[in-house]
Amino acid sequence: MAEVKVPFYGHVRQYHNLKAEIDGAINRVLESGVYTLGAEGKKLEAELQEYTGMKHAITVNSGTDAIWFALLALGVGKGDEVITTSNTFWATAESVWLIGATPVFVDIDPKTRNIDLAKIEEKITPKTKAIIPVHLFGLPVDMKEIKRIADKHNLFIVEDAAQALGSRGDTFKIGEYSDALCTSFITAKNLGCFGDGGAVFTNRDDIVEKLMRFRNHGSIKRSVHSVGWNSRLDEIQAAVLSVKLKHLDEWSDLRAARAAEYTEQLKDTGIGLPYVNPGYKHVFHLYVIETQGRDDLQAYLLEKGIVALTNYPIAIHQQEGFPFGAGDPKPYLPHTEKHAASVLSLPVYPEITSEEVTYVCDCVKEWVALQK
Ligand SMILES: Cc1ncc(COP(=O)(O)O)c(C=O)c1O
Repeated sequence: MAEVKVPFYGHVRQYHNLKAEIDGAINRVLESGVYTLGAEGKKLEAELQEYTGMKHAITVNSGTDAIWFALLALGVGKGDEVITTSNTFWATAESVWLIGATPVFVDIDPKTRNIDLAKIEEKITPKTKAIIPVHLFGLPVDMKEIKRIADKHNLFIVEDAAQALGSRGDTFKIGEYSDALCTSFITAKNLGCFGDGGAVFTNRDDIVEKLMRFRNHGSIKRSVHSVGWNSRLDEIQAAVLSVKLKHLDEWSDLRAARAAEYTEQLKDTGIGLPYVNPGYKHVFHLYVIETQGRDDLQAYLLEKGIVALTNYPIAIHQQEGFPFGAGDPKPYLPHTEKHAASVLSLPVYPEITSEEVTYVCDCVKEWVALQK
C-alpha cells in the first residue's frame, strides 16, 4: 500500500489543533475525582440544549442507546412496526430489534439518498407505531412532510441525527417536529469524543425521567431502582465534548466548503454527487459519490495514498445477520441496493485542506479517464 497522503478521518489533526484545551479539560476531570454523572455531564447537557434549541438533552453512552431508549420511553415495543430506511448504519434497525419491534424499510429517494417520502404511507399498517427518519450523511429529511404523515397516522417520530448534528432544513430545525432527536458522539462523528457517546433530545417533559432512568440502572435517586441499563456518558467525554461543541458550527461550514469544492471539481465527470435541498444546511458528515466500478476506484485511490471508504456497501436488509424474523424477509428496495453497490465516501472533515481535495479530485478524474 502507498503511504497515506489523505487520511479518511481528521480527528487526530483536530486533537492537535485543540490539544491545550482538551488536555486541560481531561486533567480537570482527573483531578476532580468524579468520573460519571457529575458536573461536566450536566454542563454539557445544558450546552447541548442551548445549541439545539431543544428543551431537554439526556446524554447516554451511544447513539444506538439513544434511539433504543427513545423508542422504549415512548412505549414502542413488541409486535410494533417502525418505518425507517435500509440505507443507514446497522444501529438504526438494531435499536428497533432491541425493543422487540420490527423495522419496516422504505426505499430511498435516489436524489437525497434519504427515505423516499412518497413511499412511506404504503408501508403503514395497523401495527405501525413510529417513524425513524435518518438524516444520512448530514442531510436532513424533510421533517414537515414526516410530521404530516405521522400526524395523519398517529405515529411517533424519533429522528436519527447521528450524522447530522448542526444541520437544519429550509424552514425547520431538526428535532422541532419529533418526539425525540437522537445523536451519536462516536469519534468519527461531526461532534465526536474519544470513544463512545450519544444523546437524546426531546421537548416532551413526560419521557425525560424514563430516559434518565434507562441510562443509569433505573435510578434517579441513590439506591432506588427500576429496570434500566448502564449507559452513562463519562465525565471525561463530556468535558471533551464541551470543548468541541463551541467549534461545531465553524466545522460544519468548513465541511460544507470542502464539499462544495469536490462538487465543483467533479461536476463534469459523470459520477453521482451529493444533492442538497434548496435552503437546507447539509453538514457533510460524509461526502458520498456513486459510480460503477466503485471497488476499482477505491483501490485506485488507495494506490495514490487516498483513503476512501464505503457507507454503506451492504444495506441493512442485505446483511447476512438480518435477524429474528424481521418482517418482510425480502423487501424490494431497488434504489437502496443500487446505491449500496456504487457508493464511495471521499475524505471530508474540517481539517482537510483545499489542496488535498484537489489532489483527490485529480485522482478521481484520472481514473474516470482510464475507464474510457
Ligand atoms: C446513522 C447512524 N445511526 C446510529 C448510529 C449509532 O451510533 P453509535 O455508534 O454511537 O451507537 C450511527 C453511528 O455509529 C449512525 O451513523
